[in-house]
Amino acid sequence: MKVITVAATKGGVGKTTITSGLAVQIAKEETVAMIDTDPQKSLELWYSLRKNTENMALIKNVDDLEAAKKMLAEEGADWLLIDTAPSNIKNLIPAIQASDFVLIPTKAGAFDVTAIDPVIELCHQNRKDHVIVINMAYGEENGIPDDMVAGTAKHLRKHSGQVLENVIENRKEYASASFSGQSAPEITTNGKSADEMEALWLSVKKLARRFEAVEE
Ligand SMILES: Nc1ncnc2c1ncn2[C@@H]1O[C@H](COP(=O)(O)OP(=O)(O)O)[C@@H](O)[C@H]1O
Ligand SMILES: [Mg+2]
Repeated sequence: MKVITVAATKGGVGKTTITSGLAVQIAKEETVAMIDTDPQKSLELWYSLRKNTENMALIKNVDDLEAAKKMLAEEGADWLLIDTAPSNIKNLIPAIQASDFVLIPTKAGAFDVTAIDPVIELCHQNRKDHVIVINMAYGEENGIPDDMVAGTAKHLRKHSGQVLENVIENRKEYASASFSGQSAPEITTNGKSADEMEALWLSVKKLARRFEAVEE
């Protein structure tokens, strides 16, 4: 079983949206379990609203992440996704320790890139690989050419570590889908969010294999 923790120092950067979106992608091919360690329980709410839970499970009231992980691995889950709260950074430690690697969403912006430092530091301290994904990126608007994503990615690669090539744009459907426990590609037909979520899943699969190979 591969374990991914989705963490960030900031709230509202898309941790839950990415966790749930990734779970939907995984469930098309493999089985996925989820644990919501955020007291706000947004992922639990999303799951309770969801109709199609084939290949998915959400485990509630987990006190001991390691014990839950062991149980899920024994039950044959292929993936475990752990969603986290931004508030108290120390509370992230068990989730980071339980993971194979940490996926860190950030918005593209000067204030956002430095805000992820504490979570990266925690990954270093716990010897966990981390990968950054840029979420809620703006496309070109009002004739202003958008070099914000490229600039942010460049800065992050220099100072903070690996950044996924594939970016998730700011799209209304990501927010709308949460009301019905769905992911953006499930409520749209334009294919853009579907491409983004598929690219995220492909990247995650590749990274899980790569990090596993490094650890062996
Ligand atoms: N790519 C995106 N485009 C548009 N809205 C998004 C996107 N990602 C997340 N959101 C919205 O932004 C808000 C915060 O996202 P959420 O996943 O709850 O963040 P977090 O879990 O980090 O607090 C939610 O209303 C969500 O629907
Ligand atoms: Mg959340």
